Amino acid sequence: MLSFFTGARVSAESGIPTFRDALTGLWERFDAYDLASMEGYLHDKAMVWGWYEWRRAKVLKAQPNPAHFAIAQMAECAEKLTLITQNVDDLHERAGSSNVIHLHGEITRAHCVECAAPYTFPPGIPDEPENGKRVDPPVCGRCGGTMRPGVVWFGEELPLKAYQQAVEAAREGDEFVTVGTSSLVYPAAELPYIAAENGKIVVQVNPVETSMDQISMHVLRGRAGDVMPALLHCWR
Ligand code: OAD
Repeated sequence: MLSFFTGARVSAESGIPTFRDALTGLWERFDAYDLASMEGYLHDKAMVWGWYEWRRAKVLKAQPNPAHFAIAQMAECAEKLTLITQNVDDLHERAGSSNVIHLHGEITRAHCVECAAPYTFPPGIPDEPENGKRVDPPVCGRCGGTMRPGVVWFGEELPLKAYQQAVEAAREGDEFVTVGTSSLVYPAAELPYIAAENGKIVVQVNPVETSMDQISMHVLRGRAGDVMPALLHCWR
């Protein structure tokens, strides 16, 4: 079994600012914790919802890049492929990957903060709220609560099933390939280490040195969008 573990820089090649990049420029006066925690949401729901609508618009306008397509096509080369992502966008799916394990949730989903009823976004791309524009979150038709983005915030547990599937892939697979992640954000960052401890072949795709160099059998220095199509070519 071949497993891929992708991070923020795979999406960044499609023009989606990483979480921290996104806090520069227009939104630089905001704090990450205020925008990505239950405490921040309860303090100012419209600010948080507005920020995620801005990010959702960016995601919907973005297109998958060669790294996303190469990973999707690798499913044809491997007997079984597991794709684990820390990214909250749907670019892997739009590139053709299925059964993507989203460790940090999905920005294209939302649910009621009170009763967990799912929310269906209206079709189309939302207007990109401008600099710090506040947008009231929709109200739940079932209980009158408010909707929150379907992403994992600071201090929240990862979705249990997704995390269990990811750990199983790290333990049971043959190769574990990390792409565009620093593997510093825990607990997701444990996965390559779990794979290495279980004797799996860890491969890292990253243009710069990281702490994962020590556990990686192969380090492919380069951009995801260059390296992944080349890797696909070799495996075909
Ligand atoms: P990080 O930003 O922590 O790490 C990105 C890694 O990608 C770094 O090690 C870079 O050296 C490397 N890199 C840079 N350019 C690259 C390229 N073109 N191709 C491949 N690699 C490149 O991102 P993550 O490890 O993914 O959330 O961070 C984990 C989580 O924390 C993510 O879910 C992210 C962040 O909050 C969001 O961005 C929404």
